[in-house]
Amino acid sequence: MSQNLAMGKHSSALILALMALLLLLFISACTTVEPQETPSVDPQNSVERVPLRVLAERKGFGIGAAATLGPIRKDENYRRILSEEFNQLVTENEMKFQRLQPEQGRFDFSKADEIVEFARSRDMRVFGHTLVWQRGLADWLKAGDWTREELLELLHDHIDTVVSHYRGKVYAWDVVNEALAPDASLRDLIWLRGIGPEYIDLSFKWAREADPQAHLFYNEYDGSGWGKSAQLKVDALYNLLTGLLERGVPLDGVGLQMHIGLDKPPSYEGLKQTLERLSGLGIEIQITETDIRLGNSSDSLPKKLAQQAKVYGDLIRACLDVERCSGFWFWGVTDRYTWVNGITGTPEDPLIFDRFYQPKPAYDAIARELKKSA
Ligand code: XIL
Repeated sequence: MSQNLAMGKHSSALILALMALLLLLFISACTTVEPQETPSVDPQNSVERVPLRVLAERKGFGIGAAATLGPIRKDENYRRILSEEFNQLVTENEMKFQRLQPEQGRFDFSKADEIVEFARSRDMRVFGHTLVWQRGLADWLKAGDWTREELLELLHDHIDTVVSHYRGKVYAWDVVNEALAPDASLRDLIWLRGIGPEYIDLSFKWAREADPQAHLFYNEYDGSGWGKSAQLKVDALYNLLTGLLERGVPLDGVGLQMHIGLDKPPSYEGLKQTLERLSGLGIEIQITETDIRLGNSSDSLPKKLAQQAKVYGDLIRACLDVERCSGFWFWGVTDRYTWVNGITGTPEDPLIFDRFYQPKPAYDAIARELKKSA
């Protein structure tokens, strides 16, 4: 009997213990916080992506795009991307000589002004392109038979009128664009023939006089893209800029154009070396006019887009890794509008937004590098 009693006591203790355990389990189940699910979407591809200009501004970097008035006027998607993603706008064509001075002494600023107003209302800096260039010249100028004195006056008047008009509104100018020929000599053009090599020095001097605050750039291109294979051009550029600085010419920066293809892109190391060498001159550098053509190789489109992304990433990384490299611009906003399609006759899709305004893998590569360096 006492044994039965003892067993009864034991089993009721066991039942109590079990009930307590169950209660504990129940309470803990109610209070446990479910772990957050890791988002499976790449934030750069989601609607919530952080715009490039926000990433760039974290380190005071200029991220720019060349823009034209046509799509600014008529294409809402273009306007949105341009102003949301970039903090720097470059005038693709509207500030070229023939656009601003279509007839001798008659300046037409209306279209360029509209672009400048668009940029200013969206808090974007304007990079003026370009005061002196072999192309984009007005017919009346090309057709004339000018004396040296007349050409000096024409060039001075053009630079003074344009730079004064935009004083305080254009933060930097491509004062002289592409003065070097592929063989590294000075390019044969109207100003060189009529004035002599000093047209370069004078252009900078006149631009400085018209707007002492504007950053004055020399902008140059090279087909092979400033890597090792462009040594001849890099040397010529270096010597040209050294000469300008030694003569006290007011030069603030150099722009390296980057119209390239996937077949022969510059490497990260090659470009970085070039940027470091130019940094030694103590001036600012920007990577300008970047577009990377897909070309007509037989690789699949996804493969080409991945290669394009890698090259974009390498180029901006080289710039971000060199202190004096203060900006990086694309020669256009979307593949829907790019001068390259017209040039090669095939769709080259060289930019970071596709024709439907979607960010491409190249966009993600740029965003990643900006994030890493912020
Ligand atoms: C190009 C424009 O993109 C075209 O729309 C225009 O027809 C010709 O000029 N280097 C430069 C740019 O400095 O001004 C050029 O722009 C491209 C090459």
